[in-house]
Amino acid sequence: MALEVRYNPLILMTLKDTLNRPLRDLRISVTDRCNFRCVYCMPREVFGPDHKFLHRDQILTFEEIARLARIFVGHGVRKIRLTGGEPLVRKDLPLLVSMLNEIPDLDLTLTTNGSLLPRQARALKDAGLKRVTVSLDSLDEQVFKAMNDVDFPVAGVLEGMDAAAAVGLTPIKVNMVVKRGLNESSILPMARFFREKGYILRFIEFMDVGHTNGWRMNDVVPAAEIIEMISAEMPLEPVAPNYPGEVAGRWRYKDGSGEIGVIASVTQAFCRDCNRARLTAEGKLFTCLFGVKGHDLRELIRSGATDEEMSQAIASIWNKRDDRYSEIRSENTIKLPKVEMSHIGG
Ligand code: GTP
Ligand code: 5AD
Ligand code: SF4
Ligand code: SF4
Repeated sequence: MALEVRYNPLILMTLKDTLNRPLRDLRISVTDRCNFRCVYCMPREVFGPDHKFLHRDQILTFEEIARLARIFVGHGVRKIRLTGGEPLVRKDLPLLVSMLNEIPDLDLTLTTNGSLLPRQARALKDAGLKRVTVSLDSLDEQVFKAMNDVDFPVAGVLEGMDAAAAVGLTPIKVNMVVKRGLNESSILPMARFFREKGYILRFIEFMDVGHTNGWRMNDVVPAAEIIEMISAEMPLEPVAPNYPGEVAGRWRYKDGSGEIGVIASVTQAFCRDCNRARLTAEGKLFTCLFGVKGHDLRELIRSGATDEEMSQAIASIWNKRDDRYSEIRSENTIKLPKVEMSHIGG
């Protein structure tokens, strides 16, 4: 019976939320810590020396994560992305990757700030990681340092990307969060540079995740404006998504020199196809990036629940899901208490 609940294909097909959306993508945050203090994510005033990060006993062990991952895969998850904070600050991360890599047919990937990739790329590849996405907000030293707020140089991140490319963690994707007045002037230089490099650059609209980043609508540079700006110099045309529910809208250079993406979660919400669940480092399951409260799976796992009990708990959470925050964003929703980006992992 236990196996039927987890692996029966009919049950897999029927796990849908109230808006008929399946569960395909699991984002697992492995730590709430980060060696950067990006102004739009972990502003130093809030995440300073007195900030209380999660204690070791509060975060899920690798065994707990791997067990949960298998149960999620039993419900239809096909992609697992490790996030943070910064996932590579979690000790022995390649070991977790190798444990997850035992699960067949999984797109296993990671979103990182790149700073620790030169040291870890090889071990991650050997452990079975498929590809990486690296965040970089500008090629301009001053702008980038003002954004990461820890004086980390652009060259260090580029070195991380190149280390990942050298070991075959490809395709390399690059995430650039665009904030009006801060790094708009970096859009074109970034597009030119990564077109040349052959990495897929994605522009992300600054989002109102959490409530410490001081988000205002005026800070958002709409994706349409970004596309227009780039297309005026390097003509672009739209491309169909790689898979249903892909977050980034894809565009390619008409001359065949590569592609870029735009993640327009503010101006063109994509909740309708959202098939993502998020697990925080302390084992809370969120069914939306803008969740107020997560479901405590750590409590369940540590109280001795069986796999079927865990599986049923997850199914019942997903069945009740009705989130569509970005579609209903308003002055009122912006004020809601929300989980911080460094907890939920983006
Ligand atoms: P691939 O398509 O597999 O390459 O990954 P991805 O684009 O889903 O992952 P990534 O971690 O690079 O996320 C890119 C940006 O999109 C981040 O800023 C995320 O916070 C944002 N994002 C990802 N999923 C969602 C979502 O469901 N809702 C919203 N609003 N933003 C999301
Ligand atoms: N808005 C948009 N993207 C953000 N990220 C972090 N905070 C925000 C925000 N407020 C990005 C990171 C990383 C990805 C997981 O989310 O830069 O690339
Ligand atoms: Fe760290 Fe990424 Fe947040 Fe920047 S955006 S503070 S690198 S977790
Ligand atoms: Fe999914 Fe929530 Fe993002 Fe909408 S706002 S796409 S429901 S995570």
